[in-house]
Amino acid sequence: MPRKIKIAILFSGNGSNMQNIIETFHQKKIAHESKEYFFEIKGCVCNQKDAFGITRAKNLGIPCLLLPHQDFADRISFDLALEKEIKKMEVDLVVLAGFMRILSKKFCDSFKIINIHPSLLPKYKGANAIIESFESGDREVGVSVHWVNEELDGGAIILQKSFLRMPEDSLEVFSQKIHALEYEIYPEAIKKAIASL
Ligand code: GRF
Repeated sequence: MPRKIKIAILFSGNGSNMQNIIETFHQKKIAHESKEYFFEIKGCVCNQKDAFGITRAKNLGIPCLLLPHQDFADRISFDLALEKEIKKMEVDLVVLAGFMRILSKKFCDSFKIINIHPSLLPKYKGANAIIESFESGDREVGVSVHWVNEELDGGAIILQKSFLRMPEDSLEVFSQKIHALEYEIYPEAIKKAIASL
């Protein structure tokens, strides 16, 4: 019998990584390191009401809860509401996919959480990683998946992949290459992360 793995995905915007994860894993039997897993994406949570990802989740038939952080008095009360909702889903892993919120220590300690970041961490933490990486002049650039703790983009690295940037690449081309690498690395990192749970 494959081991069942239940996942919740949190996002704030476009949701292309969320879509990729749902399409790769939802209700699929997947082997990794000679073990078999059966994945279920239990649901998504979005904190921005105008996020395009909400439409993606709907089209994919995955429940998506809208929890606008603006409706809460402070970070602690938002995180408590989020924690309550995710506990209801009874998941093994929480996957952040462009979720633009720093999470409190209490929340981070309550779940196994992973995040994808569009730079070779510890370089270029924060919300402007693609532009900072593009403008850095670094020849080797890439993407990281890491465990989440209360420190912004600070948890242990699960997987990183890099490529050599072409000097002629525009920001648009550069961003496309980063995103293409994200779609490759996140599913791989999820398998690696669950194997360690
Ligand atoms: C990605 O670049 C991811 O690395 C970062 O936020 C972006 C989300 O893009 N954390 P999308 O919403 O998955 O399209």
